[in-house]
Amino acid sequence: MDFSKATILLTGGNSGIGRGLAEALAQRGSRLIITGRNEGTLKETLDANPGMTGYRLDVSDPAAIRDFAAMIIRQHPETNVVIHNAGIMVMEKIAADPVKRSRRTRSIPMRPSAWSRPTCLVRSG
Ligand SMILES: NC(=O)c1ccc[n+]([C@@H]2O[C@H](COP(=O)([O-])OP(=O)(O)OC[C@H]3O[C@@H](n4cnc5c(N)ncnc54)[C@H](OP(=O)(O)O)[C@@H]3O)[C@@H](O)[C@H]2O)c1
Repeated sequence: MDFSKATILLTGGNSGIGRGLAEALAQRGSRLIITGRNEGTLKETLDANPGMTGYRLDVSDPAAIRDFAAMIIRQHPETNVVIHNAGIMVMEKIAADPVKRSRRTRSIPMRPSAWSRPTCLVRSG
């Protein structure tokens, strides 16, 4: 898939795999809008990547997601790709309490496919 002219909203773009993916896509021509909770790493990523836009967002907060989505539709209507990358991997003893572990890992409501697998949504047309 050619993302060179895409405007991509990528959650958790301020560190780890998300930052690496955001930078790789930006280098290939995509316009990146990233989110993260940590203001320090968010600023550091934006400073290192002129042209990227960033917002602070906690994706475990449903009200914040609603407000953020409305803002994106208003201010960045050209957004045509969303990569749900933000998430946590909780290392726990599965046999000890599998239900609790599963609930914590899936407490990130922006990730429709749940579990710990990042998701990419593309708007066609
Ligand atoms: N690394 C692996 O082996 C592996 C394997 C399977 C799946 N994954 C998944 O791949 C994704 C990236 O992994 P990674 O290794 O790069 O993880 P990471 O270094 O821990 O980065 C996680 C990112 O998600 C953000 N994030 C976490 N909780 C958030 C929340 N409630 N609201 C907003 N942002 C939040 C973090 O932002 P802040 O720093 O600002 O909190 C950070 O940018 C994650 O979803 C992870 O579960 C990773």
